[in-house]
Amino acid sequence: MKKYGVNELREMFLSFFEEKGCLRLNSFSLVPHNDTSLLIINSGMAPMKPWFTGQEIPPRRRVTTCQKCIRTGDLENVGKTARHGTFFEMLGNFSFGDYFKKEAIPWAWEFLTERVGLDPERLYPSVYVDDDEAYNIWLNDMHVPAERIYKFGKEDNFWEHGSGPCGPCSEIYYDRGEKYGNGPEDVMGGEGDRFMEVWNIVFSQFNNDGHGNYTDLVQKNIDTGMGLERLAVAVQDVGSIFDVDTLKSLSSQIIPAR
Ligand code: SER
Repeated sequence: MKKYGVNELREMFLSFFEEKGCLRLNSFSLVPHNDTSLLIINSGMAPMKPWFTGQEIPPRRRVTTCQKCIRTGDLENVGKTARHGTFFEMLGNFSFGDYFKKEAIPWAWEFLTERVGLDPERLYPSVYVDDDEAYNIWLNDMHVPAERIYKFGKEDNFWEHGSGPCGPCSEIYYDRGEKYGNGPEDVMGGEGDRFMEVWNIVFSQFNNDGHGNYTDLVQKNIDTGMGLERLAVAVQDVGSIFDVDTLKSLSSQIIPAR
């Protein structure tokens, strides 16, 4: 596999989804507008909530972005794991009542395996425990063996962050190999750094009013997120997000080589 740089990977993702009909938009500001549920933008979908709910009409029903993010809930993990950062960039493709599971899952697989060249045998999808439709797409259409498809509950495979659009999700983990294992607890879907979640496809079907009450959205949507730096960790086979090419070139100016 070619060791693409962060800037190459960003462009590869955005142009791949342009080929799939998505409109490329610039990152939105880190400061939320008209959203009192968030202090800072935490994901690609956050600035687009009115397009998911149908309150506003998007410029196109298929969009792709690379969004500047700070995920306050993850800050405690920074410096402890290989995969959590303060500021990060999230690659996303979004459907507002347009494409759904049967397109979003194959496109994720195509991008990771054919464009980027990740070894399919090191990729492990997970699905929400009741989501037979997503499970069957992985099994029958993508031909991922059943033993590599995991079913997890709400804690892992239902995406929501404060109020707004949410739903069950399907994630893709990459096995970085034994050398990155933290010990026997480093299992698929666990908290260790060997199996790193790189891609998350949320089937955004519900609205959470912020008090745990869910209603159906007027349309079924796709909200995909992939951590750009995490993808680079997998592609460049480096220890952590702080070792990818762009961050390394910065830190090497600040921290003298030993
Ligand atoms: N909203 C989901 C996430 O941030 C997918 O984009 O992981």
